[in-house]
Amino acid sequence: MLHEKIEKNAALLGVLIVIAISFGGLVEIVPLMFKGAVVEPAEGVEPYSPIRLAGRDVYVREGCYNCHSQQIRPFRSETERYGHYSVAGEFVYDRPFQWGSKRTGPDLARVGGRYSDDWHELHLINPRAVVPESNMPAYPWLAERVVDGQTLQAHMRALQRLGDPYTDEQIEGAALEVAGTTELEALIAYLQGLGTEWTGQRVAPRAGGDS
Ligand code: HEC
Repeated sequence: MLHEKIEKNAALLGVLIVIAISFGGLVEIVPLMFKGAVVEPAEGVEPYSPIRLAGRDVYVREGCYNCHSQQIRPFRSETERYGHYSVAGEFVYDRPFQWGSKRTGPDLARVGGRYSDDWHELHLINPRAVVPESNMPAYPWLAERVVDGQTLQAHMRALQRLGDPYTDEQIEGAALEVAGTTELEALIAYLQGLGTEWTGQRVAPRAGGDS
């Protein structure tokens, strides 16, 4: 009887569906918020240095995530190409994270150290200069713009408030540290650090199969 009443009353049914879904969502999400492997940095992972943070802002502003993911999935086809699959603790200082879901270009989660700074410079100013068949856009203006130290300090202060362990001295000194740095240099510093910090134990992907 009760069931029939609910089914015939769209509003009530809607409200109950929302309650049921919210409850299911909370059961999945809340435990994750307290799980160490997810909320604590993986071994060796530190908050972004000022210059890398500035580079990360450029990455977000230019929408690099529209074509590049930063998440290596635990499949052999991925790990053979990109390196060890990503672990949650590598992303605790990524706000917002740059996992992405579209790969027009390769995944960048472990691109750090794969190319020289000079390669990145040429590639970002004109991708065709180093990869003739590339359809990645060129970003020549990055070489002409300098990083704004005050915006960077405000960003660091906000992250500090959210719990990132920046000290007041680090924030004070950040503007001086990046003074005169071009956005291109900052972006390259960011790219060169991607995936290089985690020093924890690597687990080999399982043999025999793509899973
Ligand atoms: C329209 C899609 C698109 C956008 C937007 C884009 N890329 Fe790319 N990117 C590609 C493609 C395709 C490749 C592969 C060809 C090449 O190396 O140029 C690539 C390659 C790369 C590589 C080399 C990766 C490797 O492992 O060989 C890096 C680094 C890179 N992009 C960084 C960036 C950055 C930083 C931005 C933002 C400023 C960006 N890309 C924006 C499509 C894109």
